[in-house]
Amino acid sequence: MKNIVILISGSGSNMAAIVRTAEEQNWAQRYNARISTVISNKADAEGLTFAKQHGIATSVIDHKAFASAPQPREAFDAALMTEIDKHQPHLVVLAGFMRILTPGFVAHYEGRLVNIHPSLLPAFAGLNTHQRAIDAGCKFAGATVHRVTAELDHGPILAQAVVPVLPDDTADTLAARVLTQEHLIYPKAVAELL
Ligand code: GRF
Repeated sequence: MKNIVILISGSGSNMAAIVRTAEEQNWAQRYNARISTVISNKADAEGLTFAKQHGIATSVIDHKAFASAPQPREAFDAALMTEIDKHQPHLVVLAGFMRILTPGFVAHYEGRLVNIHPSLLPAFAGLNTHQRAIDAGCKFAGATVHRVTAELDHGPILAQAVVPVLPDDTADTLAARVLTQEHLIYPKAVAELL
């Protein structure tokens, strides 16, 4: 069985889209694959409830618990890797996971680690993508599924979706339009990798 581990930090709507697609398309039978666990760095991430309701094991590794370690990022990533590796994952899917990962973590999952970013990469890596697209006068925005490399929001592109930027858009209205597309391209890209 190919295990998929999904990492979230918040609402987890991309995770939910992947779980629903896996159920609808019967990934167990079609790809011999399953979402084996959902891990959050925040105990109050709403997505954890959805995962539990769908019979998926969940766990929380709170990055704040490592704040006083000599190397907090490395210590957090080591704990995260230990939890992930219990599932011997075929894929590790970052779905709104709002932590910058160490080069050691990225190297450990090389070829197995994917992310979704709410912009048309390579434009607007980093945060506040929607406001930055509006401020730049972009006529189009979108989302990108990409393999994860050591450089933040870079790596080979697997899928993209494009939406128009409308004259009266705010960051929130644009984000909502982009998110509806994320929910289509991310499950599809994961299925293609399987
Ligand atoms: C998405 O826009 C994703 O691209 C970005 O954070 C948001 C997470 O949304 N990295 P959700 O947690 O999947 O609902």
